[in-house]
Amino acid sequence: MIKVAPSILSADFSRLGEEVRRVEASGADWVHVDVMDGMFVPNITIGPSVIKNLRPHSKLPFDVHLMIVKPERYIKDFASAGADYITVHVEASEVVSQNIDKIHALGKKAGVSVNPATPLEMAEPYLQNIELLLIMTVNPGFGGQSFMSEVVPKIEQARRYRDEHGLDFDIEIDGGINAATGRTCVKAGATALAAGSALFGAKDMKAEMESWRRFPA
Ligand code: DX5
Ligand code: ZN
Repeated sequence: MIKVAPSILSADFSRLGEEVRRVEASGADWVHVDVMDGMFVPNITIGPSVIKNLRPHSKLPFDVHLMIVKPERYIKDFASAGADYITVHVEASEVVSQNIDKIHALGKKAGVSVNPATPLEMAEPYLQNIELLLIMTVNPGFGGQSFMSEVVPKIEQARRYRDEHGLDFDIEIDGGINAATGRTCVKAGATALAAGSALFGAKDMKAEMESWRRFPA
């Protein structure tokens, strides 16, 4: 069954705790947390202290997506704040392998992410050693952008690579996911979907996620 990870970037930031509880009550698998630094992406969101304050509001895994330059500076802080998955961008650091090792040494699950223009080959050296590959289907920075369908072949390529090598990392897709694009991604081989506007904008978040789980592979 595919995993669904609502991105709290689309939540009401004035009452984030309640929003995280709503995500859990709606049956989400993970809470997707977007961390932006105004350098790697042209937007600034939240840091470890917000995650720490949200932690008591949910038992769900926090899927923390670091869109920050040189994430090695902050991995420890996000781990202590209560992140479960820590994902770093291959474009953001020269020491991706060391970052993965650091995340594992802190007892957390490691992810790597690739921007739409970044070929899968940039992530291949790490795929043996991660729990999550996060494939961006928008240029990161903002919620509510349109899905870039030209990335779909990369999802298929990642799924082929994973199956051929007998690996079991999750393939999560992030950016412009809704009922239509989500279905396309699952067909292409995605095992997890992150979504902000489509889930927070849905009339019934729970029903929406349940319908996504029925997408055929
Ligand atoms: C984009 C973030 C996404 C974003 C997705 O930079 O990484 O996780 O919240 O938002 P939607 O689903 O609205 O495209
Ligand atoms: Zn994200």
